[in-house]
Amino acid sequence: MISGPVYRGGAGQIVSLLHKLTGLGVFAFLVLHILDTAALAYSAELYNKIMGVYRHPFFKAGEVGLTGAVIFHAFNGIRVIALDIWTWLIPHHRTLIWIETAALFLLWVPTSMLILLGHH
Ligand code: HEM
Repeated sequence: MISGPVYRGGAGQIVSLLHKLTGLGVFAFLVLHILDTAALAYSAELYNKIMGVYRHPFFKAGEVGLTGAVIFHAFNGIRVIALDIWTWLIPHHRTLIWIETAALFLLWVPTSMLILLGHH
């Protein structure tokens, strides 16, 4: 029999997992991006080859994912910080998650359209 407090999980558990995954994902991209830019210092030919690989549609999808990861991590990080500072917000944390999700899609959809439709 379970006694004492029970961890309820739910939306808060999902966003905290996403916060870790997006934090590590954005960091992984940053490492990759430093390495690809550094390649130019060694060989212009190698750099151009890598840029050629990035033209693959897989990386377009990756850019959309990266944009979403950065926006999510930033908004969710601000929510975590806000809950730390203004503890009276804690009972409303689920409402904050919905506001954050709405803000994420409001920013992510138009930026994804620019990435997917833009010619750059
Ligand atoms: C607007 C920018 C950002 C904000 C407001 C932000 C906020 C935060 C906060 C508040 C935490 C701690 C979460 C917790 O204690 O539960 C955190 C964790 C983390 N952040 Fe950020 N962050 C930002 C940008 C970034 C960037 C650019 C990267 C990667 C290069 C990054 C990588 C990470 C990682 C790896 C963690 C640890 C995740 C974990 O294991 O819990 N963050 N961030």
